[in-house]
Formats: sequence, C-alpha cells, structure tokens
Amino acid sequence: METKHLGINSKLIHAGYKADPTGAVNVPIYQSSTFAFQNAEHGAALFAGEEEGYIYTRIGNPTIRALEENVAELEHGCGAIATSSGMGAITTVYMALLGAGVHMVSTASVYGPSRVVVEKEFSRFGVEASFVDTSDLEQVRAAIRPNTKVVYIETPSNPTMQVTDVEAVSKIAHEHGCLVVVDNTFASPYLQTPLDLGADVSLHSVTKFINGHADVVGGLLIAKEKSIYKRLRSVMIGMGCNMDPHQAFLVLRGLKTLGVRVERAQQNAMQIAGWLEKQPEVETVLYIGLESHPQHAIAKRQMSGFGSMISFDLKGGLEAGRRLMDHVRVATLAVSLGGVETLIEHPASMTHASMSAENRRAAGFSDGLVRYSVGIEDVEDLISDLRQALQAASVATEEIKLTPAGVTAG
Ligand SMILES: Cc1ncc(COP(=O)(O)O)c(C=O)c1O
Repeated sequence: METKHLGINSKLIHAGYKADPTGAVNVPIYQSSTFAFQNAEHGAALFAGEEEGYIYTRIGNPTIRALEENVAELEHGCGAIATSSGMGAITTVYMALLGAGVHMVSTASVYGPSRVVVEKEFSRFGVEASFVDTSDLEQVRAAIRPNTKVVYIETPSNPTMQVTDVEAVSKIAHEHGCLVVVDNTFASPYLQTPLDLGADVSLHSVTKFINGHADVVGGLLIAKEKSIYKRLRSVMIGMGCNMDPHQAFLVLRGLKTLGVRVERAQQNAMQIAGWLEKQPEVETVLYIGLESHPQHAIAKRQMSGFGSMISFDLKGGLEAGRRLMDHVRVATLAVSLGGVETLIEHPASMTHASMSAENRRAAGFSDGLVRYSVGIEDVEDLISDLRQALQAASVATEEIKLTPAGVTAG
C-alpha cells in the first residue's frame, strides 16, 4: 500500500509493510541467516543485486528492512539502517564520517558514552573533537575549525534537557561544509524530524521511545542523501553491528503505538512538571514544555510536542537525591527511558557516580539532579508516589543533618 500521503499514526502502523503471501497481518520474523540464490534450476537468472533480494542477514533481511523503510518514511529520509544498539548507530556514524585529522563539534551534555567513545577510542586513530554548549550558536560557530567535518547534536540532551536549534546549527555547519548528525532519541520521530530541519543524519537508540517497552536494545540511522546512506550501510555491514530479525519484529510492534504512548506520556509529564515546580523540596524543574525552560521557544518551534522526559534539581543535593531513590514505589529505580513504565534515576549516585562532582557540574548538572522518564500510568499515582517520596526524603535528609558528623543516619 502507498503510505506517503497518510498521517503519522497511520504510517506508524502501515509504512514499510509489504503484503505477505500468507496474508499475515504482521511482518513475519525471517529468522534466517542466509538466503538462497535463484539459479537456473529455479528457472531464474543468477541473483541480480541487493535491491532485488536478500543474501545474508548482516547485509539485509526482510523483517529488518520493513522497520528501516517505516522509519525512513517517518523521518523523510532516503533510507534507514537498523543497528544492534543505539551505540551501534553512533559508532557507525563516527566510523563513516570521521577519520584521521578530522575534527567534530559535539554537544557537551551529550549521552556519556557518545562522548567517551570519541575521547578514548576514536582519538587513538587521530580523530579530534570539541564538546560545546550547542544551544549557544556562538559556541558552535567558534568551535568550527578548517578540519571540522561533522557537527553532532543531541536535542533534547540527556540528562540536562538542553535544546539545540537544529535549523540554525545546520545552517552554520553547512556554510562550513560540515555534515549535521542529530541524536533524536529523546524526541522520537513522532515529535521531531531533524532531516526536515536541515540535518543530514538522524539517529536513535530505539531501546527508548521507538520500541517503548524496555525489552529490546537497538538503534537506527536515517540519512537524507543516498550517498551518505550507502556509506553508513557499508560501514554498518563491515562492523557487523546489524539488528537481528527478532529484535526488528519487536521494535516494529512497539513502533505501532508510538503516537498513543507519546501523547499519553507527555500529558502526564506536563502535569507532573507543573506540580513539581510548586514543591518546596525542588529547586528547579527542567521540562521543555514549561515556559520557564530556557529553550522552550525553540522546542515549541522545532518539535510537535514536548515529550515525557523531566529532570529536576533537589534543594538537598546528593543526599536528597539518594534518599528520593530509596522511597519511590510506583516509579522504578532504573537507568534507560522512554518506556511505558515510569523510570527514575539519580545521575550523581548512579549513572554518573564515577565522575567527580566538578566534572558533573562542568557537564551542566548538579548532584541533586534527578531524571524522571514519565510513563503512561495514571498521573495521580505518579504524583502521589513522588509526593510521599519527596516528603520521606526530606525528613531523612533532616535526620542526617542532626546526626553527628561522619555518622550516616539509616
Ligand atoms: C540519547 C541517547 N543516545 C544514545 C543512547 C545509547 O543507546 P543504547 O543504549 O541503545 O546503545 C542512549 C542510551 O541511553 C541515549 O540516552
């Protein structure tokens, strides 16, 4: 069925689907590593080329292809490439577009491993990188060097919720002959289409919103131009970080409900963010849907909704953060995000505990910062859970202050 003219919720369900000879309503799981070539015995000419059929699952597979075609259509790209994980997509982009003596400008508050892999691994092969606040266009402009080839942005970013103006950065980057890559994980294709804003490549950790059920790890790359698409695909095949057919099947199933999940979760998030702003234990709330967010206007312009990620800063700092984690009941204390279930995490004592407090501040977040991925539960349950946890955490923090120095209260 031709789906180009359909609305986004219809595309989520139908794009990429090719009628199956058995009448199966869903794309079957083609769990086969290899595919038979047509030979004279079958009355056909020898295999004609990649577009005509499948050879080997690392190169291409019908279940994976259905997912790739769906997402390429959602984000208006010329093609998409599914990978084993979000980091598989990110390292494929780096490997394809960077090289010895090549420089990249990137968002400072980018997802930690996206930065670490450049600083620790790609630097060994002569890749250079500057990490700047890409929400500040002057910093982007100033960081570009004659050998800069890629401007990499994550927007909204994790966990600082900074928003970068994709259109403005793309204009600056293209003036300097650089390609623009956007990590679109936090927004999902439902809320933001970076290629329409001028980016050359969009990527996702599908582990998050696209799959949405905390049961798959995966990644996706979407390219605007055929030449970039081909380059990315050939690197993905060479590095062997392809998605698996069963993984693709699960992601396709999750993708169908992306719209309804995102709509429901962002409604919850707006209510929770407004409520959090009024709580005495909370210093600041970073939710891009609030007018108090520094880049609210940019988010409103370049996204069709504000999503369901909230970060908030506790007045009680590190200890209050730890205590809050001890008292939540409905929200699950876990890393990751974008699922139907609400997840909470405290970067300073969990994901970023190995960083010094100074480095955490330099990356733009304090020790009291809590990241809250809002799910689709009843919002009243989420608010009452947070209310009791905030109260319990502040009582516990008070008790610590009254305890003699060096003794940690229960
Ligand atoms: C914004 C962002 N990009 C990329 C990744 C990496 O994805 P994965 O864990 O699927 O490799 C994550 C994971 O948390 C993320 O939050």
